[in-house]
Amino acid sequence: MPHIPLIAGNWKMHGLSQAVSEALAIDAAARQSSARIALFPPATLLHRLSQALAEAGSSIITGGQDCHCEADGAFTGDVSAEMLKDAGAGMVILGHSERRHGHGEPCALVAKKVLGALRVGLEPVICIGETLEERLAGETHAVLNRQLRASLPEELTGQVFHVAYEPVWAIGTGHIPTDEQVVDAMVLVKSYLEERFHGQVTPHVLYGGSVKPDNAAHLLTLDGVGGLLVGGASLKAADFNRIIAAA
Ligand code: G3H
Repeated sequence: MPHIPLIAGNWKMHGLSQAVSEALAIDAAARQSSARIALFPPATLLHRLSQALAEAGSSIITGGQDCHCEADGAFTGDVSAEMLKDAGAGMVILGHSERRHGHGEPCALVAKKVLGALRVGLEPVICIGETLEERLAGETHAVLNRQLRASLPEELTGQVFHVAYEPVWAIGTGHIPTDEQVVDAMVLVKSYLEERFHGQVTPHVLYGGSVKPDNAAHLLTLDGVGGLLVGGASLKAADFNRIIAAA
């Protein structure tokens, strides 16, 4: 895969206005790195943070953490891909396990949201991952294949997008899969994409789940890992900058 790594920080539901200074401190490290760096702040901060980074001349890409599949309408509380783009976003995370499990989002809805993102030129970061129960039941491959099949619409052919493998049991737990488990998932994703899209897509395949400054460099050496999706350790510039430095 000819990519430079993508290091993405998902702030989830964290961050008030003062977090903009954290993003500017992350920009200082991003300037020393050849990796692509992306930050996904809460929706309330997206415009302010995108503007501050743009004014600073930063190359950090900002993104939304989710979007509605429609462009606009009577959808109280939702945000469309158009709105994310208007607020300065270049990417959007879709199908995160906290949406799939916390909000009951099925793969078919994720696929519709992907179409929404593509409609306005946002790069979707499409998350997949098995629960602990599914892994213990030996269903990991079946789950990942099913999520890929149903969450990735045909329209991704030739488009820029990313896939993040995030085992649900590794998110926010401090439990990291073994090297073999990570590589196994990378191989599965790449084989799936090759078989279905016949070389017409070349996404970064990211690993996410308890990435920390101390394990980032190692995770990036694993076969097929094209970047990292970082949650908790992206909130403080001091931590995230060490992860950026590892890339
Ligand atoms: O989107 C990020 C992932 O859910 C990982 O979160 O690094 O806090 O485990 P975490």
